[in-house]
Amino acid sequence: MTAACFAELGHGVCVGDIDEARIRSLEAGRPAIHEPGLVELIERNRSRLRFTTDAREVFAAARIVFVCVGTPPTHSGDPDLSAVWAVIDGLPAASDGLVLAMKSTVPVGTGRKVRLELDSRGHAAVGYVSNPEFLAEGTAVADFQAPDRVVIGSSEEAPGDAVAALYEELGAPILRTDVPTAEMIKYASNAFLATKISFINEIANVCEETGADVSVVARGMGLDPRIGPQFLRAGLGYGGSCFPKDVAALKQLAGNSGYHFQLLTAVIEVNELQKRRVVAKLAKHLGALRGKTVTLLGLAFKPDTNDMREASSLVLAARLLAEGAHVRGWDPIALEEARGLLPGVELYDDLLVALEGADAAVVVTEWEAVRAFPYEQAGRVMRTAVLVDGRNVLDPDEARAAWFVYESVGRPSLA
Ligand code: UGA
Repeated sequence: MTAACFAELGHGVCVGDIDEARIRSLEAGRPAIHEPGLVELIERNRSRLRFTTDAREVFAAARIVFVCVGTPPTHSGDPDLSAVWAVIDGLPAASDGLVLAMKSTVPVGTGRKVRLELDSRGHAAVGYVSNPEFLAEGTAVADFQAPDRVVIGSSEEAPGDAVAALYEELGAPILRTDVPTAEMIKYASNAFLATKISFINEIANVCEETGADVSVVARGMGLDPRIGPQFLRAGLGYGGSCFPKDVAALKQLAGNSGYHFQLLTAVIEVNELQKRRVVAKLAKHLGALRGKTVTLLGLAFKPDTNDMREASSLVLAARLLAEGAHVRGWDPIALEEARGLLPGVELYDDLLVALEGADAAVVVTEWEAVRAFPYEQAGRVMRTAVLVDGRNVLDPDEARAAWFVYESVGRPSLA
């Protein structure tokens, strides 16, 4: 993504990855993750992009090397930084003047550790810059091209200037800071957004008890510019490769340094429980779920991506299977990714076929095809017309007019 976007800005970019299959796919113009506009971007900038599995080729070709490796969570909640250290290990002896720009999300303090390591290995003339990533999946190309802000953390001026210069033409505010502050901005931003989601989900749950409508509550709150309208969509909770990992990592980071981050503990717990509330909503209308067929509409963690990491569908499917339900899953593009992750779930690429004979459907991911839910045809093929809208994207009146039993999150239920 970053490579294709920098190539679009006119730079020559050499992309290195240890995964040969991934490099071959990229060479063929097929990135592993579905991202709107990315295939076209790679195609358009083919002459400026080079792909390799040889790290030496990358270090030989570039003055600035962006580190964009994965930092997946370990069992303790701390991120696994082995891929980051592998990049440092691969630095050639003669690397003076090179700048390492860290895009991967790494715990606050990592940059300082890398600096010490570089110095002790004779790489004092290699610059280090923290340049956290704020792209969201599904809108990553647009987010890169029109960022809200670019954060550049460095302890020396020159490497920071070199990285800042790459972004200047985008016209976004560029915040220059020290390395730990840049690292913390990334974690704090994601943790705050996750907090907003858990907050509105708790408000939604109270709305369900009191008869208020959370979507209108969110609109009313969002009109206050101090609160803002974004990330107040109640639903099944947050998933994906970033929020769950980063919230856990920040909590862990605080804990490791002796501080108990109570708020984040609650944010995580609310998020976990939120997915499970669907089961009670289904049981309210279907009784015991044993032997019932439930279709999950959407499996990816959000629309416009095939990313299944920490998707709500994973927890939901496992819960429903544990209740003895037959679980089906429909998704327009994530089926291949879902296959190994959802044992016991029947997968479908045709929405109506997935609904045939089902006792209930649950909206898990708000794909366009789900937003345009075919009430009439669905009502004809389903055994019972029960619809639990886990993303509040359908119109309750329309659902009722089509004789569906409709439940959503934090909006008055119309049974
Ligand atoms: C998130 C951030 O939005 C990006 O700014 C950040 O750069 C990225 O993580 C990252 O750290 O790399 P992303 O995970 O791609 O981006 O997706 P979001 O659009 O933020 O959605 C995350 C989850 O929150 C999804 O499961 C979504 O359904 C859920 N969500 C979002 C809600 O439940 N309610 C909302 O109001 C908004």
